[in-house]
Amino acid sequence: METVFISGADRGLGLSLVRQFLRAGFHVFAGLYGPHWPALPELQPAFPDTLTVVALDVANMDTVRQAVQHVAERTSALDILINNAGVHLEPQRTPLEALDLADGHLGRTMAVNALGPLRLTQQFYPLLSQGSRKLLLNISSEAGSIGACRRDREFAYCMSKAALNMQARLLQNYLGPQGFKVLAIHPGWMRTDMGGREADITPEQAAGGILCLALRHWQAGDPIYLDYQGHTLQW
Ligand SMILES: NC(=O)c1ccc[n+]([C@@H]2O[C@H](COP(=O)([O-])OP(=O)(O)OC[C@H]3O[C@@H](n4cnc5c(N)ncnc54)[C@H](OP(=O)(O)O)[C@@H]3O)[C@@H](O)[C@H]2O)c1
Repeated sequence: METVFISGADRGLGLSLVRQFLRAGFHVFAGLYGPHWPALPELQPAFPDTLTVVALDVANMDTVRQAVQHVAERTSALDILINNAGVHLEPQRTPLEALDLADGHLGRTMAVNALGPLRLTQQFYPLLSQGSRKLLLNISSEAGSIGACRRDREFAYCMSKAALNMQARLLQNYLGPQGFKVLAIHPGWMRTDMGGREADITPEQAAGGILCLALRHWQAGDPIYLDYQGHTLQW
């Protein structure tokens, strides 16, 4: 049975990815940050053997190590890592002059969105090396594109996703020769807590597209930065 680890799995896109990969027959290791959202534990009885919930704060190296240890005790190989956990902490309309740059949101956003995936990737690397797909999916955003940028605010979020995109390129350069494929995926504007009610698509639609991308046969030289439908984006 194929295995996938999904961070930030208790709501939004992460929860939809958990559902879709379970239905597709994967053993899903689901990273649970806060205990306050019941959906993931409620899903557990329907998938007693193929859903494993793992405590994880991607901003905390100790919990990352513990989560990887937890997975390693249950499987000798991880086929896919999906770095989905993310935060958007600044009010989207706040202009530069009104931003509080001392309230910690800049560092926290980078710690979760940009550095969290690197922590997980480093610690899962031995298990991924044993996997059949060697696939690393970083959930990025079109907000991380420098070339197509039209925004004039949302500094922390956009900068964190641009850094995540650079991480994907660096990792592809490093891990590609070992048979890995790294993708930075824009999941679309989704109706989640982060995306809001006015967004274009449901997280189920985005997760369906991402599952299709995950099941493709990838070459190291294929494009890295894609939307959930597989269209190449501008770095
Ligand atoms: N929504 C959009 O329109 C949109 C567009 C482009 C890209 N994205 C990206 O898509 C991904 C999922 O977004 P979403 O809309 O599903 O967001 P969401 O509904 O806000 O869910 C975020 C998830 O990340 C988890 N999380 C937050 N901090 C964490 C930490 N320190 N460690 C581990 N998990 C943590 C949350 O856990 P708790 O529930 O415990 O807080 C939650 O499960 C994010 O990377 C986001 O940047 C979203």
